[in-house]
Amino acid sequence: MGEVDPAFIQEPEHRPKLCFSEAEGIPMIDLSPSREKDPCALDRLVREIGSACKEWGFFQVINHGVPLDHRHKVEAAAREFFGESTQEKNKVRRDAVKVLGYYDTEHTKNVRDWKEVFDFSVEEPTLVPSSLDPHHHDLTHWHNQWPHYPPPLRDVCQEYAKDMVKLALELMELIALSLGLPQKRFQEFFKDQTSFIRLNHYPPCPSPDLALGVGRHKDAGVLTILAQDDVGGLEVKRKSDGEWVRVRPTPNAYIINVGDIIQVWSNEAYESVEHRVMVNSQKERFSIPFFLNPSHYTMVEPLEELVNEKNPAKYKAYNWGKFFVTRKRSNFMKLDVENIQIYHFKV
Ligand code: OGA
Ligand code: NI
Repeated sequence: MGEVDPAFIQEPEHRPKLCFSEAEGIPMIDLSPSREKDPCALDRLVREIGSACKEWGFFQVINHGVPLDHRHKVEAAAREFFGESTQEKNKVRRDAVKVLGYYDTEHTKNVRDWKEVFDFSVEEPTLVPSSLDPHHHDLTHWHNQWPHYPPPLRDVCQEYAKDMVKLALELMELIALSLGLPQKRFQEFFKDQTSFIRLNHYPPCPSPDLALGVGRHKDAGVLTILAQDDVGGLEVKRKSDGEWVRVRPTPNAYIINVGDIIQVWSNEAYESVEHRVMVNSQKERFSIPFFLNPSHYTMVEPLEELVNEKNPAKYKAYNWGKFFVTRKRSNFMKLDVENIQIYHFKV
């Protein structure tokens, strides 16, 4: 990526401010009580998680149980992979059929992102609908495309995926408790999950005032667990005043954010929050989000325990598989229309 192609340029109202404020108050949560036997400490943790989901939709966690060497190995492999020649990376390039692998032309809201990515799914293969048509019920398998270089990439990614699923399910148990639900309430949705992991590389950009690493968006899935390096660039739209604030990198912590599906399941008790990534002219940046997604056959709708006459369901049920493949397609191609969003299912 050389000079800035017009495809990357954001509309003036979406351009980042180069002088930014760092977020004060994004909650930092210590997860150790979730593995200890002290019911009072667990209760406090559940309340902390609940208020972070409500007030921010974003929080960081420490003492999360993910082995640091697993994270370091994936970070090192990602750095090596993106350092390979374009020709080498293109050997695992995604296309309209093979949707996992390497690509550098993702669009968010139809503006190109200043980044290159490598996607792989947690379940191998991952089962999804083969067509966007709501009347078609055929399924297809998504297969990962593993590069030959660097050789350890496959193993370290698969090991890390297991760590991510474990942490995500633990977080979902805490979120369930915080909503007054049984601890395992969400478990059934993650059999045959469509979760995936993305290795992100944001190269230095000559015009960080015009382009974004990822344009403003909300994550469509259940929950995201993000590892970011020490460069910084993630900005969150603060709920209290709508300001864009930067999430300060904390070594070895993970950033957690509520996705659209939690917003629907909780009938908007918890809302997903808009975020974006700034790039900078000096330093490249790496990040690794894990996107927790349910099975393709999940019908996403407000949980019946959380709706009643006074608080009726705010969304109609929608099929996750169809939603997901529609979204994947629109991020891949520049379209004339806005991509699918949960508000299309608003009652
Ligand atoms: C995303 C995202 C943030 C980052 O990929 O959805 O928000 O810091 N990434 O890379
Ligand atoms: Ni995101």
